[in-house]
Amino acid sequence: MSGRFEAHGDVGILWIDNPPVNAISQAVRVAILDGLKQAEADSAIKVLVIACAGRTFMAGADITEFSGPPRLPSLPEVIDALDAFSKPVVAAIHGTAFGGGFEVALACDYRVALANAQVGLPEVKLGILPGAGGTQRLPRLVGIEPALQAMISGDPIPAPAAQEMGAIDKLVVGDLTEAAVAFAREKIGSPRRRVRDITLSPNSLPAGFFDTARQRTAKEKRNLFSPQRIIDAVEAAITLPFDQGIQREQDLFFECAKSSQAKALQHVFFAERQVSKIPGLPADVKPRSIKSVAIIGAGTMGGGIAMNFANAGIPVTLLEVNQEGLDRGLGVIRKNYEATAAKGRLTSEQVETRMGLIKPTLSYDALADADLIIEAVFETLEIKKKVFETLDRVAKKGAILASNTSYLSIDTIAGYTSRPEDVLGMHFFSPANVMKLLEIVRGARTAPDVLATALDVAKRIKKVGVVAGNCHGFIGNRMLEGYGREGSLLILEGATPQQVDQALVKFGMPMGVLQMFDLAGLDIGYKSRKDREPGTFDVKSGAVADKLVEMGRLGQKTKAGFYDYESGQRTPIPSDVVAKVIEETAAQYGIKRREISEQEILERCFLAMVNIGCEVLREGIAYRASDIDIVYLYGYGFPAHRGGPMFWAEHELGLPKALERIREYARQHGPRWWTPSPLLERLVAEGKGFAQAV
Ligand code: CAA
Repeated sequence: MSGRFEAHGDVGILWIDNPPVNAISQAVRVAILDGLKQAEADSAIKVLVIACAGRTFMAGADITEFSGPPRLPSLPEVIDALDAFSKPVVAAIHGTAFGGGFEVALACDYRVALANAQVGLPEVKLGILPGAGGTQRLPRLVGIEPALQAMISGDPIPAPAAQEMGAIDKLVVGDLTEAAVAFAREKIGSPRRRVRDITLSPNSLPAGFFDTARQRTAKEKRNLFSPQRIIDAVEAAITLPFDQGIQREQDLFFECAKSSQAKALQHVFFAERQVSKIPGLPADVKPRSIKSVAIIGAGTMGGGIAMNFANAGIPVTLLEVNQEGLDRGLGVIRKNYEATAAKGRLTSEQVETRMGLIKPTLSYDALADADLIIEAVFETLEIKKKVFETLDRVAKKGAILASNTSYLSIDTIAGYTSRPEDVLGMHFFSPANVMKLLEIVRGARTAPDVLATALDVAKRIKKVGVVAGNCHGFIGNRMLEGYGREGSLLILEGATPQQVDQALVKFGMPMGVLQMFDLAGLDIGYKSRKDREPGTFDVKSGAVADKLVEMGRLGQKTKAGFYDYESGQRTPIPSDVVAKVIEETAAQYGIKRREISEQEILERCFLAMVNIGCEVLREGIAYRASDIDIVYLYGYGFPAHRGGPMFWAEHELGLPKALERIREYARQHGPRWWTPSPLLERLVAEGKGFAQAV
């Protein structure tokens, strides 16, 4: 059932009921139209309340309908019917009135909301704009500037703030239906108060307001299409009469809806929800209870990981081997919190509460009560071995033992304990208190409830947990190897570091691959290359970085790496010294330098990554291509408007073209790194996409 009409004396209630989030599907649109007709026809009904059953008010248009042909009636038709309705209408809002849901509420005369409800127009996050009158009504109701801000950010607005803005008329604590009916009854006999009839005055805006907004938005929402169209639509609210403004909104909506960005962002929406569905994990598996956590290692990663738990109100014991390391680690955590407080995002009380949740220790005995222990020590197996053998002795029965390793085998690590079923990888991404990704690595013997617990923990600490199988580098770092290798080879073949990085940044990456190496520290790759078996990586690709490290150029931390850096600055400055090292190294390997195009940079870096992604999928290291996309969006800053590397390859480039280019690079550079994944070959031969990969 999608809708039902109920008479409470002279107040009618139109109930919408479409679990789980009352998305405005075709059936819901029909139900609203039917309800309006019924309420109009019933002369005993003097006023109408629109309310929703279940956990929320309508959370927006039904996104699953976006990919098919239009299904009538459209939401704008429903909104027109609301405008044409002759009696006052009150929206009773609980949960999240988002997108089309909020637009329905904006087409009502009054909005009554539970104090803990949220409203908002998050369409921008799906690459579109509010297409059911939101761009014309919200500015009329709350003013141009706050409305524009709300639509460009797409962020939820808590009901009290929405009331302050003028978008909510009454806040309710307690029974919403009762309060909404009482409120509605007060409005009996009042004329309609339609938002469309409010006159907007252009004089209230500073000169050049929209130009300034366009420029600011171009910086803040780099490369994004729909935020600029939102500005166009809101400008129409002031320059055009209401109905023409609505028409303009419709035109702009369809421009956005057919853009590749909208398709990519909608893919991300569903990919993010898909990721926690783990094939083979019994539906009734019960996560273990995690009330306290311990972290081993108070370095950059350990400290960042500890902050996540303290932020979520979970007590965390932080272990280091000596007092100096412990003091330094805690000092960095405090500094991070204080920096957030200085920006006004935490009170000093909250800083102290969070610091109070972190208990420093030098003794493994202090870990005996922890429900979850995460090891974040140096990345060598000998050290991990010692740690896990010790944990096996001190940890309580049933405690989950996790490693934050970026590359090492979880099965080997689990083998250092007598309880491999309790061991798994919890791989955080630097900076661990900021990056949203948590790669959860299941070992061959990890117990289902341990996996379920890690997914649960990810949610509690506001991360997106992606389950990966066990292999060198798991999903993210295994694919990164191809990306880094090609970026490094391109500079030997003739591109400058800035040319490579600028192409990647223009594509939408937050920074280029060489800048990323400088940020992480070139000594990390240097050390790992020294430890690796010859033949398992491309020696040439690391040659420049190795020389830079041997010259003391370790990256940003020494103010010199692939670039120079000024004190306290992160802006990369091209270096003549590095240019010379590159030329010498190219000569040493007999590489003839040549002009390199932007297209080659993008194809080499991303297709190398995607080809490995196909292997990751083929081997079952990732369950779905969309999981790989999520890893790249939240762990590596891949631009969401391109959907992730696998979506990009399939939908921007096309898999046949991707395969053709990979084959071409194999012809040019040999098969060692460019042999197409058999999965890619099969999908192209069968005319299939990644969704049909398994
Ligand atoms: N359409 C279709 N399905 C939706 C949906 C929507 N708008 N919103 C959520 N769902 C589905 C999810 O895919 C999920 O399905 P599964 O259980 O099958 O995975 C289910 O509803 C529950 O969603 P969440 O897991 O996200 O639940 P939550 O409680 O964590 O969050 C929420 C609820 C805050 C409403 C969140 O789902 C959300 O933000 N939804 C999207 C809201 C949105 O973007 N609305 C605007 C739509 S565009 C629009 O309205 C255009 C217009 O102008 C007409």
